[in-house]
Amino acid sequence: MSEIEIVRGDITEQRVDAIVNAANETLLGGGGVDGAIHRAAGPGLLRECRTLDGCVSGQAKITRGYRLPAKYVIHTVGPVWRGGDAGEAGLLASCYRSSLQLAREHDCAVVAFPAISCGVYGYPLREAAHVSLAAVRKELGQHREPSLIRWVMFDEPTYRAWVNVYDSLGP
Ligand code: APR
Repeated sequence: MSEIEIVRGDITEQRVDAIVNAANETLLGGGGVDGAIHRAAGPGLLRECRTLDGCVSGQAKITRGYRLPAKYVIHTVGPVWRGGDAGEAGLLASCYRSSLQLAREHDCAVVAFPAISCGVYGYPLREAAHVSLAAVRKELGQHREPSLIRWVMFDEPTYRAWVNVYDSLGP
């Protein structure tokens, strides 16, 4: 069974095969983790993103990592939280599935995720943690790769939410 880690930190500093970006449908950058990744990767990332023709919510596309220590960036577009009855959970789970499928197709053994949709897009932390951990655990139960999934949490409340839900789920 693959490993899951939950750490505090800055995803742009992660020396892993792929980091996942919480992007928007244009894939042309933004604020939050999207802005941090583009700043750290440099202009080559935006140049490649311009060739991708955007990405719909729940799907993912992959680019090189450029100046980042990570080899690849997997750009996924999370759902905007609209109260929970607009298919948000399914779209969020799909972000993780789509990202992990791309990671497998590119032989990524170690993948780092931020808390997709938990910033500007307003997804409540505990709900997002439940959906995200359930989706990733299901994927890891069906595939041998990636061998390590690391959530990199930029702030303490998000970190605590993921740890509390992870602990409640048991082995
Ligand atoms: N490393 C790890 N996590 C980070 C970093 C970082 N350097 N910077 C921000 N985060 C965290 C936020 O604290 C939040 O927990 O990433 C999580 C996702 O928040 P956002 O970046 O706001 O992403 P999201 O809620 O999915 O909204 C996406 O915001 O930046 C725009 O272009 C983006 O339009 C898109 C929208």
